[in-house]
Amino acid sequence: MKEYLSAERLKWLQDTFEKFEHKMNIQCQRIGEKIPYIPKNGRYEDWGNIDIAWWTNGFYGGILWQLYQATGKEEYKTAAERLEERMDRAIDEFDALYHDVGFMWMHTAVANYRLTGNKRSYSRGMHAATILAGRYNVAGQFIRAWNDDKAGWMIIDCLMNLSILYWASEETNDPRFKDIAILHADTAMQKLLRADGSCNHIGILDPTNGDLLELPGGQGYCEGSSWSRGQAWALYGFIISYAHNNEARYLDAAKRVAHYFISNIALSDYLPLCDFRAPQEPVYYDSTAGACAACGLLEIAKHVPEHEKHLYVESAVRMLQSMEKSFCNWNEDEDGILGMGKVAYHDNYHGVQQPIIYGDYFFIEALLRLMDKSLWIW
Ligand code: GLY
Repeated sequence: MKEYLSAERLKWLQDTFEKFEHKMNIQCQRIGEKIPYIPKNGRYEDWGNIDIAWWTNGFYGGILWQLYQATGKEEYKTAAERLEERMDRAIDEFDALYHDVGFMWMHTAVANYRLTGNKRSYSRGMHAATILAGRYNVAGQFIRAWNDDKAGWMIIDCLMNLSILYWASEETNDPRFKDIAILHADTAMQKLLRADGSCNHIGILDPTNGDLLELPGGQGYCEGSSWSRGQAWALYGFIISYAHNNEARYLDAAKRVAHYFISNIALSDYLPLCDFRAPQEPVYYDSTAGACAACGLLEIAKHVPEHEKHLYVESAVRMLQSMEKSFCNWNEDEDGILGMGKVAYHDNYHGVQQPIIYGDYFFIEALLRLMDKSLWIW
């Protein structure tokens, strides 16, 4: 993507990458064996002790493998291997796992396998893919979200987990996994994507036949609103399905969400609000949505003709530069880099706005994409 950037932007990109890698290197030593999620008073707790099956536990592995691939520094590889081993307990305990096993093991085991050919990592990835495939609802043609009494629930986030199914089919030359991914992506397109390119977070379906029953608000402001991270999951999720299948409907869907996303961020200086349809006050941002969407926009740019690329690259770069200027914390004594993330519109438990590990993951993936040095995690 470097050929699309001016000299001034290339300098910004190199400087920002160096600042990120420098701070992450210091953090990596400080973090040790901990699994980071959200810093508390400037320091990560060990989320592995709090909840080993938590859906975000793999993202730090993604950061480490991306930095290992970009710099070749062994300390990133060693830390990523330790994290992957710790997560075995989540597979052993099994019960608390749900649709996010893709996020958890694509960034750890599958990334490791892709870079090193590690056989144990391959088995972990295949194990996670099998767990995800086992959640498929045949009558409704969707992968169920979460556990407990939610048999008919599907959510837009799950599009991002389909990667592990595509990977499993590609590795085994067995279409079963990929077929499930395609059927789920098509159901998400029918039930969750709206005509204007926005999407619902959650769809509650009749688990016996797949009829749509309800579209609750989920992590956004309310029913019918537009939770920006959900829009980012849709944008990136559909283009990932296109990257694996070459089916035009996924590219069209990704572009539709992208155009909606771009129109909205253009109204707030390219700083993504937490919900594009929330009241004007209070102002809540969600940097994680912007970082994830930037990666999706850069992926779309790879699949469109030359004369269409500008819109996607330019929007991604504007958003990244805007967030770097306004949200990044380069203080080495405090954990977390990309600030102003938000877990959910109405969730103030972790603090109203804060760095979240997956924000840092998507931010470094986006920078490395622009530098042509990113590892394909998806
Ligand atoms: N996948 C859950 C979230 O985006 O918060």
